[in-house]
Amino acid sequence: MTMPEVVNPDQTYAERTTESLAHMERAQAVMPGGMTANIKHFAPYPLAIKKANGCKLYDVDHNEYIDYLMGYGALALGHAHPYVCQSISRQIEEDGTWLFGTPHEKEVTMASRIQKHFPSMELLRYANSGTEANLLALRLAMAHTKKYKIAKFEGHYHGAIDKLLVSVHPTPTEAGIHQSPHSVSDSSGMSQEDVDNTVVLPFNDAESCARILEQHGNDVAAVIIEPMESGIIAPKPGFLQQLRKITNRLGIVLIFDEVKTAFRTSLAGVQGLYGVTPDLTTMGKVVGGGFPFGVVGGKREIMEQSSPLKGSDFFADGSQDHHEQKALFHSGTYNGHPLILAAGIATLDILESEFNALVTRTEWFKKELSALFQKYDIPMKTLGSGTMFSVLLTEREEISSYRDLQLCDHKSRVKLDKALFEAGIYTKPGNRYSLSVEHDEHALAQTLKAYEKVIPEVLL
Ligand SMILES: Cc1ncc(COP(=O)(O)O)c(C=O)c1O
Repeated sequence: MTMPEVVNPDQTYAERTTESLAHMERAQAVMPGGMTANIKHFAPYPLAIKKANGCKLYDVDHNEYIDYLMGYGALALGHAHPYVCQSISRQIEEDGTWLFGTPHEKEVTMASRIQKHFPSMELLRYANSGTEANLLALRLAMAHTKKYKIAKFEGHYHGAIDKLLVSVHPTPTEAGIHQSPHSVSDSSGMSQEDVDNTVVLPFNDAESCARILEQHGNDVAAVIIEPMESGIIAPKPGFLQQLRKITNRLGIVLIFDEVKTAFRTSLAGVQGLYGVTPDLTTMGKVVGGGFPFGVVGGKREIMEQSSPLKGSDFFADGSQDHHEQKALFHSGTYNGHPLILAAGIATLDILESEFNALVTRTEWFKKELSALFQKYDIPMKTLGSGTMFSVLLTEREEISSYRDLQLCDHKSRVKLDKALFEAGIYTKPGNRYSLSVEHDEHALAQTLKAYEKVIPEVLL
């Protein structure tokens, strides 16, 4: 077994994390790179976490951190919120199982709870991740339009789906000019056909989107977008409205991927904030309370294609009339998992009463962070809205696309985050800050103190 080449690792990090390193050595013996998901890796090796509580994480070396990664944004209530724990226990005690494998009440309850905030989701289906939700959304769009190309935006992530692992993170040389971005594969093992069938659009540039979509409109089934790019870059005024108009005109299904933003940017997601109604919405993360969950919902006529009452599939038992038409196939052993729905519904219960206060705390925290950087005359922007944002080291006034984001000083941000580990603050280096209801004034004040200590050490 070989460890990754450790290029001059930070001495303090190495000293504080000997057990994390030992963990990585064991992990590498049984998993490629020691990882179950590539995103968990960072150099020289990531922290291995042993325990969590509220807004805290504890690593295998017994170091304590205030956690701002929060399961990549999924844990809006923090770790093991007592109300979620109770709901899960009650589900098992009262209902006697964690898996019915049949229709059940919580499937309906969750649907109406989501619809209260996302009225555009006239009918819903559940899946087990954001990735799965997007897979279904694409199939629904292709079946509805009988077209088979997909358009997506440069820099937008929608999960590990071949058609969508395109131009998520292209290099400047690969990417082409902003107005006509190239389609660039983000992974080995993908067919050139998938890459060629994915049209790439520039975010916040409605004119270029219209031109590109008009060129491909006869073939494009869906435009899928993170309506707040990377969960933090706001759409320019009118951009989403214009995209809605173009897609309507060209008969293209508009999919808002609100996996990051639903119940984070606002309770009603980005569509609620900007008043634009997509044809389909996908979500995951927060709505599953930190468990594997995905949701697809939208226009009745598009969603109904998957109804087993409308067409036959190979699960039909033969007792009904045979339909000439094939149903759109969607299934999953764990879809609508009772335990996950219990956690998700409990999460919405709490968020409905505490979300606004958490937004106010997040705004205060962002303002205080900005003041700190200003004190040291270091250009910094907190970008994002609701309960999620990123710390960008940049002098740029406007960040309106992936390409602007790439021009921020990412290296210094990573250095800062690694130094913050020692001061007891955790996010994956370079990642967003996602707050939870457990991040109280005390935790935020402690974080500001850590920044106060670390900024002059690292950035001056
Ligand atoms: C916008 C967006 N869509 C889809 C996904 C994929 O979700 P999952 O990791 O649950 O498959 C993610 C994950 O980060 C995401 O941010």
